[in-house]
Amino acid sequence: MRMTVIGTGYVGLVHAVCMADIGHEVVGVDTDEARIAPLTEGRSPIHEPGLDELLTRTLASGRLRFSTSLADAARFADVHFVCVGTPQMPGGEAADVRQVDAVIDDLAPLVRPGSLIIGKSTVPVGTTARLGARLRAVAPHSEVAVNPEFLREGFAVSDTRRPERIVVGAESRRAEMVLREIYEPMLISGARFFSTDPATAELVKVASNAFLATKISFINAMAEVCDAAGADVVTLADAVGQDSRIGHRFLQPGLGFGGSCFPKDIRAFAARAEELGVGEAIAFLRQVDEINLRQRTRTVDLARDLVGGSFTGRHVGVLGAAFKPGSDDVRDSPALEVASAIRREGAEVRVHDPEALDNARRGFPELQYAFDVPKACEDADLVLHLTAWPEYRDISPDRLASVVRSRKILDARDTLDATTWQSAGWTLSALGRPPTNGTYASA
Ligand code: UDX
Repeated sequence: MRMTVIGTGYVGLVHAVCMADIGHEVVGVDTDEARIAPLTEGRSPIHEPGLDELLTRTLASGRLRFSTSLADAARFADVHFVCVGTPQMPGGEAADVRQVDAVIDDLAPLVRPGSLIIGKSTVPVGTTARLGARLRAVAPHSEVAVNPEFLREGFAVSDTRRPERIVVGAESRRAEMVLREIYEPMLISGARFFSTDPATAELVKVASNAFLATKISFINAMAEVCDAAGADVVTLADAVGQDSRIGHRFLQPGLGFGGSCFPKDIRAFAARAEELGVGEAIAFLRQVDEINLRQRTRTVDLARDLVGGSFTGRHVGVLGAAFKPGSDDVRDSPALEVASAIRREGAEVRVHDPEALDNARRGFPELQYAFDVPKACEDADLVLHLTAWPEYRDISPDRLASVVRSRKILDARDTLDATTWQSAGWTLSALGRPPTNGTYASA
C-alpha cells in the first residue's frame, strides 16, 4: 500500500522504515530540510539497534523516500500517518498539540477525496474527534483515525516489527480495514488487533503509560518506607514481583523515570482529566509525578550527607547521563538533573556515559565529561551511579579504588552488587536499602 509518514522523529522515522520493510511504498515527510537531507543519503539522526541497516535496505529497495513537501505527500498517497511531537506546553502541564493541528490544517486542502489521516502522536483524549471535524470542514470526504504507538527507545525497531498489540480508533469500518491491511504481517506474527472508537484508543495509550509510571513510583514510595523502617526495597521488589499478578517488570526501584514520554504524558493526562471534570479520578498521577521527582532530591540529599554536608570543593564522579540504559537520549534525564544540581551546590562533577555524552554536553555544557569510568572518577570524594548501564555492574571496585580519593559510592539505581563493593573496602549506599555489614548510609 502507498502511504506517507509525516514527521521523521523517533516514532515517524522508525514507522516509515518498518512500513517500507514489510512491503509498503512510503514517503517520509518532514518540513525540516536539515533532517531530510541526511535521511535521503541513508544517515539516521537517531541511534536505534537495527535502524541503520533497515534504512539503507529500504532506501535501496526504492520503497522508501523522503520529502519536505506536503503537496508531494498528498499527490503520492491517500493514507497519511501523522507522527509529529506533542510536547509539554511551555509553562503548563497540558500537551501542546499545535504541531498536529498544523499538519491537519496544511494537509486538508491538499488531500484527495477519500483520504485517511491516521494520528500516531500521543494526544489528549478527544483530539482525534476534534481533528476529524477540522479536516472535514475543508475536505468533507476524508477522515481521521488514531493508531497509538507503544515503542520503547532502544527497542524501537523490534517493538515496531513485532508489536504485542495494534490499537486502532476509527470512525468507519473502511478506515479499520485499511489499518488491518497495513498491519497484516504483524497480525500474522501474533499481534492482537484492537479496533475501537477514537477516544478509547487515545486512552489506551495514556492509560498504559500512566500505569507503568505508577508502578515505578509505587516501588520508589516503598523505597522511602524501607529507608525509614530499615528494610530492603530490592528484596521487597523481588518478592512482590514474584506474584505473577504483579510481575517483576517496571518494579525496579531507584532514581525514577525520565525520558520524552512518561513525565509529560502523566502531566498531560492529569490536565486533560481536569478539563473533563474528572481530575479527582486520577489525582494520584500528581503524586506519581511527585514521588518520581522526589527521588532526585533524595539522591542529592543522600550524596550531600555522604560528602560531609556540603558539596563545596568536592569532586563527584557520575556514572550515567542517559535517561535509561540502552539509549543516548538525555531528555528529562534524572541522572543529568542530579549531576547538575550537585554542580550548582559547588561540586566539581565529571560525567561518564557509554552513549549519551554528545547529547549531554549539548544540554548541560556546565558539566565536565569523561570518556571512561576511571577518568570520570579520578580524585572523586564520591561516585554516583545514576543510569543502570549493564557495564557499570562489571566495574572492578578494586581497580576503581586506585583512582578515587574516597571509596564511597551511591547506587541510585539499586543494581550494583553491594557485597562486591563492600568487600573491596567501599562504602556503598543505596536508595531504599538498609545498612548491611554496617556500611550502608541511610537517607
Ligand atoms: C516508554 C514506554 O515504555 C513506551 O511504551 C512508550 O511508547 C514511550 O514511553 P521509554 O520512554 O522508551 O518508553 O522508556 P521505558 O523503557 O519505558 O523507561 C521509562 C523510564 O522509566 C526510564 O527512565 C527508566 O529508567 C525508568 N524505569 C523503568 C524505572 O525507573 N524502573 C523500572 O522498573 C522501569
